[in-house]
Amino acid sequence: IDAFFADGPLKGRHILVTSGPTHEPIDPVRYIANRSSGAQGTAIAAALRDLGARVSFVTGPADVPPPEGVDVIRVQTAREMLEAVRAALPADAAVMAAAVADWRVANASGAKMKKDGTGRAPALEFAENPDILRTVCEAPDRPALVVGFAAETGDAQGDVVAHATAKRARKGCDWILANDVSPATGIMGGSENAVTLIYAEGAESWPRLTKTETARRLAARIADALT
Ligand code: CTP
Ligand code: CA
Repeated sequence: IDAFFADGPLKGRHILVTSGPTHEPIDPVRYIANRSSGAQGTAIAAALRDLGARVSFVTGPADVPPPEGVDVIRVQTAREMLEAVRAALPADAAVMAAAVADWRVANASGAKMKKDGTGRAPALEFAENPDILRTVCEAPDRPALVVGFAAETGDAQGDVVAHATAKRARKGCDWILANDVSPATGIMGGSENAVTLIYAEGAESWPRLTKTETARRLAARIADALT
């Protein structure tokens, strides 16, 4: 493995990685967000860099700093992320690890919202954000390999892998990395991940690994697929 990493198998390749949460403003001082730390996307960008790739790293406001040695494009909202992603294409591969907010506030205020003294709370209206992964999959300059994530919990409709398999088909991506983010797994916000790699012909479950190890495994698989 170390020899493989030292070899730079992704030299000359351009890979796009999205990471972190997005922040969707309510007004100039408030926003809707989610608990993504950006740790997994950051580790993936670093692992791809270590294999010699030129990495465009489009990141929302994450808890962890971006890796050294990658092109960092910082964004706040899902719509900004989409524009940054479009601008970063073409790429040989794309890994969409961002936890993109599904909805933005449609009636966001340009000025700070104030209490009106009546005790009534404001009503927020929501609009669906663009699907960045699907847009990349449908782009005329679609990367040869597009990898999505599916953070799922099982429910009455199906287990984690069933939901993620359906999601892979819906999005049109090549691979999807599914993980179980039920509170009992401790994965959300933790330093480890346990993923199942789902592809057209089947699926394989990886052991519980650190996010760094998960990233190195994925990067090696991407190098394998592109070479
Ligand atoms: N994704 C994206 N843009 C969005 C939503 C999701 O690019 N607006 C990407 C994520 O980065 C991830 C994949 O799509 O790689 C799956 O995200 P997920 O939130 O699981 O999918 P959704 O289609 O939003 O489905 P759900 O309703 O289950 O949240
Ligand atoms: Ca979502």
